[in-house]
Amino acid sequence: MKIGIDRLAFSSPAMYVDLTDLAHARDEDPNKYLIGIGQSQQAVVPITQDVVTMAAEAASQIIDDSNRDQIAMILFGTESGIDHSKSAAIYLKRLLGLPDQLRAIELKQACYGATAGLQMAKDYVTLHPEKQVLVIGADIARYGIKTPGEVTQGGGAVAMLVSAEPRLLALDDVTSFRSEDIMDFWRPLYRTEALVDGRYSENIYIDFFKAVFADYCQQSQRTIADFKALTFHLPFTKMGLKALRAVLPQADEAQQTELLTQFEASRVYNRKVGNLYTGSLYLSLRSLFDNSDLQAGDRIGLFSYGSGAEGEFFSGTLTQALPDVASKARIETALTQRQRLSVAEYEQIFAETLPAHDILLDTSRDTSRFVLTGIKHDQRQYVDRG
Ligand code: CAA
Repeated sequence: MKIGIDRLAFSSPAMYVDLTDLAHARDEDPNKYLIGIGQSQQAVVPITQDVVTMAAEAASQIIDDSNRDQIAMILFGTESGIDHSKSAAIYLKRLLGLPDQLRAIELKQACYGATAGLQMAKDYVTLHPEKQVLVIGADIARYGIKTPGEVTQGGGAVAMLVSAEPRLLALDDVTSFRSEDIMDFWRPLYRTEALVDGRYSENIYIDFFKAVFADYCQQSQRTIADFKALTFHLPFTKMGLKALRAVLPQADEAQQTELLTQFEASRVYNRKVGNLYTGSLYLSLRSLFDNSDLQAGDRIGLFSYGSGAEGEFFSGTLTQALPDVASKARIETALTQRQRLSVAEYEQIFAETLPAHDILLDTSRDTSRFVLTGIKHDQRQYVDRG
């Protein structure tokens, strides 16, 4: 029996800042951002959006009457939680109108959380093949105005349904993971922006990738030649390219070209959205599904990395031929219709934070279906305008 990703949807707020505009405002050469970092646009998350609303927007695209009652669990990966105690998954369950007979929990290990959810979901569905698990990766990547990390911000959510006999990707059993206590990136409870040792974090990312990829190959007796594409956690798309280049010499010339071509297909969306932390690897996978011409049965490798640090390399085989033209049209329309903000507007939105008292927010500029309307009695108020 095959277990894997049956459906995969993505959502991000309907506003962005153009990185050429940002480069001019920061007195940088635009090519540093466009080529050196590999990003062209960045999603901007208004105060009326959080991980719950963005996850609801993504999950509502893949949940309908045909699967609603089969969902046994929501595993919500995030490092942008909205409460120290209550999980974002419970809010999401209510907004989606899912039945009460399910487990709803939040998972945290930096950008690795959704991968933990995916692997736990796979194990659960293996034991309960008639059930499905909703896995979320939703985050808001914040480093701060005029910091080196600013160009690697972003935000959004992915939602995946994990099932038996999946229609997108059947996961292989072999997987290699590794964790180590490392201070490359973290966010203390009192901060809304991450702290990061940028270059160090890049080096650790590459070290973890090389270690888990080598271990995976040893365990599975596979080599790089067994992969039609390698996908990566993309905090910024150049990071994935650096990781790919670290193993490319293991491939022959024709395959190097093929892997580089598929890498381009896998970073189309991430270039325009920025970092989604937990969701970034899966946005990249969605980008590959929509922009590549791979065939059913082709094997894809996935590298997940969460600072602090945890990494995992795993794989799966496509269960349908690509590209998925309907998904591509939907996502490209959504990205194209976003409002382009000036740098001043982006800075103003970035500076807005929720107060620690009751507030009614102005939602008139937010075109999303699910919005945060304010805080009442210390409780977040959500509305489904669909
Ligand atoms: N044309 C083309 N390229 C140019 C250029 C130009 N005019 N000017 C500079 N560049 C290149 C540089 O050569 C450099 O390339 P390499 O990385 O290949 O050497 C690249 O642009 C970036 O330049 P800098 O190194 O000078 O950039 P920086 O010091 O301003 O910061 C950063 C870059 C460290 C990634 C910073 O943005 C940062 O700290 N980001 C957040 C941390 C992060 O994303 N780390 C990734 C690993 S951790 C992780 O993955 C978890 C997570 O999600 C956070």
